[in-house]
Parts: sequence; C-alpha cells; structure tokens
Amino acid sequence: MPDIQPHLFVIFGATGDLTKRKLIPALYHLMQDADVARRCVVLGTARSDWTDERFREEARAALREQGYAEETVAEWCTRSLHYQCLGATGDDYSGLRDRIEQIERHRDLPGNRAFYLSLPPGIYGPAIEGLGAVGLNESAGWTRVVVEKPFGHDLDSARALNEQVHAHFEEEQVYRIDHYLGKETVQNLMAFRFGNALFESMWNREHIDRVEITVAEPLGVGGRAGYYDQSGHVPDMVQNHLTQLLTLVAMEPPSSMDANAIRDEKVKVLNAVQQPDPKADVVLGQYDAGSIGGEPVPGYRDESDVPPDSDTETFAAMRLGIANWRWQGVPFFLRTGKRLPRKLTQIAVRFQSAPVSLFQGDGEPCIPQDAHCEAPPNELLITLQPDEGFDLRFEVKAPGENENETMELETQQLSFSYQDAFGPVPDAYETLLRDIIVGDPTLFVRADEVEASWQLYAPVLETDLPVQSYEAGTWGPDAVDRLLPTWTSIGRDPSSPATATSTAP
Ligand code: BG6
Repeated sequence: MPDIQPHLFVIFGATGDLTKRKLIPALYHLMQDADVARRCVVLGTARSDWTDERFREEARAALREQGYAEETVAEWCTRSLHYQCLGATGDDYSGLRDRIEQIERHRDLPGNRAFYLSLPPGIYGPAIEGLGAVGLNESAGWTRVVVEKPFGHDLDSARALNEQVHAHFEEEQVYRIDHYLGKETVQNLMAFRFGNALFESMWNREHIDRVEITVAEPLGVGGRAGYYDQSGHVPDMVQNHLTQLLTLVAMEPPSSMDANAIRDEKVKVLNAVQQPDPKADVVLGQYDAGSIGGEPVPGYRDESDVPPDSDTETFAAMRLGIANWRWQGVPFFLRTGKRLPRKLTQIAVRFQSAPVSLFQGDGEPCIPQDAHCEAPPNELLITLQPDEGFDLRFEVKAPGENENETMELETQQLSFSYQDAFGPVPDAYETLLRDIIVGDPTLFVRADEVEASWQLYAPVLETDLPVQSYEAGTWGPDAVDRLLPTWTSIGRDPSSPATATSTAP
C-alpha cells in the first residue's frame, strides 16, 4: 500500500456536520503513525469567524463523542489542526492561499494539497472558481480537489459543473465522492464477483431471474430538510448510491484493477441501462406519521423546515433493464426510502428455478411456469449493512417423510458474516480519505460516469409523477406491489424469510 506523504488537507465547510462526524475522526485515525502525523496538517476553512483554538475544541469534542479519550486526541488536535476564516462572504481565497503557504513553510511541507469541498451543493462552482483564481489549482507537489455528492442536480447541472471543474483542474486531480464506494462490503462486491468463478459463471441472463437492490433507512430527514426537500430521494440516493451498487453488480470484469479500467466498465454498463418509463417503472412515495420500533414518528410534512404542502419524495422504487448480452431481459428492481422499518442495504440475486420440479405434494413433476408449481429459486443475499455478509439460500430435504409419505423440501441457507470473520468493518470515509491522500481514484466517480448516471434518470426527474403516501415504518406505498409484489430482500435474520417448502413422493 502506498505511503501517506506529507501534505496539507484543507476542509471547506469545516464548521459543518460532516467534518465533525466523519472527516475529523477519519483523519485522526489515519494519522496514528507518529511519523506520518508530524507532517500531515489539516486546515479547516469556512465563513464562520473561528480561531485555531475553536476548531481544535470542536474536533476534540467530536472525537470524544466517538469514544476517544481526551488525552489521546489532545496532542493531535493541537499540533495538526488549524483554521482560516474564508471571510464573511466566503470568498477570501487570497487570505486562504497566504495561510496555506505560511503553514507549509512553517511545517516544511512540500506543497502536496487536498481540498475537500464539504459544502452545500450550490457553492461547489464558486469554490472551484475561487481556488483557480488564486492559483490554488496547482502547487509544487500534488493538488487534488474532492467534491462531495450531490454532483449537480440533473444532467445539465452536472455537465456545467464538470466544465467548471475542468476549467481549473485536470480530471486526474478530481475526486468525486460517493461514500458507498468506500464501504468495505461494497468493494467486496468486486472481490466476490471476480475472485470467485463459481458465481461469475452464473452471473447472467441464462441463470439469473432478477436482481433487487434495497437501501432502507429508519431515519427521517433529520436536520437536513433544507437540502433534502429541494433535492428529493431520487437525486439524494438513487442517482448515486443505488446506481453505484447496480453498476458493480452488473459490470463486466475489468481488464485489470487499474482505476480507469474499472471505471470504463462501470460507464459501459451504465450506458446500457435503459431509461425507466416513469409511469410504468417508477413509484415515488412520501412518509406519513407512523411508528418505528414501537416509537411514534411524525410524517414528513411535519418535520421541521419541511413545507406543509411539500411533494418531495422520500421513497423511490424502480424497475430497470440493461440492454446488453449479459443482462437483456433480467429486471433490476431498486427500492429505497426514509422511515422504512429498519436499516438495510442489500442486494438480492434470485436465480432461475430448476426447469422441472420433482417435489410436488401430488408426486407429479411440474414446471415452474405452471400455477401452483412450487419450485423455490436459489437466492443470494449480499448484505452491505448492517450485519455485512452473504447468505445463499437453497433447498434441502427435511428429515423423514411427511404424512403423505412424500419427501419434503425446506429452504436453508449458508451464511458468511464479515464481522465474525474479520471483526469491525472500517469506516468508509477513512478508506476514501486515505485513497485521496495516496492518489488512488478507483473508488471515486469519473466525470463521464456521473453524467451517464444523471442521464439515466432524466425522464424520472423531468416527469411530474404522483407521490404516494406510505405509513412510516412500512416498506413504502402499496403501489410498489405493482412493480414487484414480493421482495426477497427483507433481512438477514435467519429466522425470517426462508419459507418456501415443497414436497415429493
Ligand atoms: C447520504 C444521503 O448520501 O447517504 C442521506 O444524503 C442518507 O440522506 C445517507 O441518509 C445514507 O448513508 P448510509 O451510509 O447511512 O447508508
């Protein structure tokens, strides 16, 4: 693994929530080696008139909240964290440049710089322009710029932002974040597919009946209504996180693990995904009041800062098709929402049933297409969070014979738990920040990839679709049944869905 070189890590939006919750803890964790920590410096910047000391205090509090003892973090915060106000109007880029140069001189840094834009999406453009205007787009070492999602709000705005970025930075300098790509289990999708010939040889239209991707959250919109109500769930979750999962499931094997080889394959499969017909293939929903885990929760329109007549979707389900040789005819179902019964990110791959079932109660063979023919398919569940792991469901003979003196089959599963095998899974941000610092863009979204993904959802974003209500704590509006009445992915709980049984003489 490449070494972490001395550098300055500049965080825009340093007073914000992401800095506190994710960036500071991830940077702290990466700097555990004393040698590395000595020459890697963090400079926070934002409009607020904070001082170095205030930034350090906030960082110490954030680390304490995550369970680190004060004495272990205090030294790092004092030695490594600095803050520079970007001016009340957020445009004092020359002040920022002077401060950067001063810290680099003082700490003997070679001019390696990462600029992490953790900003409201509307001001990515001005920040890029600001950096370019004062020459902070290049330096004596490497310069990298990191842009958080959402990258644009539709195809046109994503293209415009790409142009703005490319006016000042080369594509190799740009790291577009989708934090799902940093999740260990999301990366493991590639290992699972391309490191195991067993599944890869069946990973196609000949053997797979359908694929379901579920990203469910019990949480509501929290304190982010200002952004979320403008954005909606399709741009917030589907265009990025779910689409990344879809591409990793559906892409062809890359020619190598080189960043561009992988991203080329991702773009190729994205270009083959057919735009959904909004009326036939898409269901949008918004949660009403309900209860989750026994606790009552308010409806979306009653959340603070949500307009009482908001029509913003908090749920989306879709059917997508992929017009290529591997996937033609295999439906991919996506389902994601806020205030669903529990946290679950899961890919369910349902294989085709055996062509003839020999295990019916009446002893007569039947074919799965016939009504009443029970031929449970094998299913592979890839759970990305929580309880990361795999479950493979298959049929076994239940011991003995039933009262009809026929053989009875029962669904059982083989399970692998990431946590049991490897212990706690590292945080996605730590993985991604390390990659930014060492210069590995594999897990970041390339310009053409982000545009292809927006293009895919253009009809959904451009159509004024009805938003159906659903009770908080349920799996979405009833209309979802129209797309797919029975979803496979309802949890890794071994006692839950292994239900299908069939019998044979
Ligand atoms: C973010 C979305 O990108 O991902 C949030 O903006 C969502 O709305 C979050 O809650 C989910 O991430 P995770 O890692 O908790 O699944």
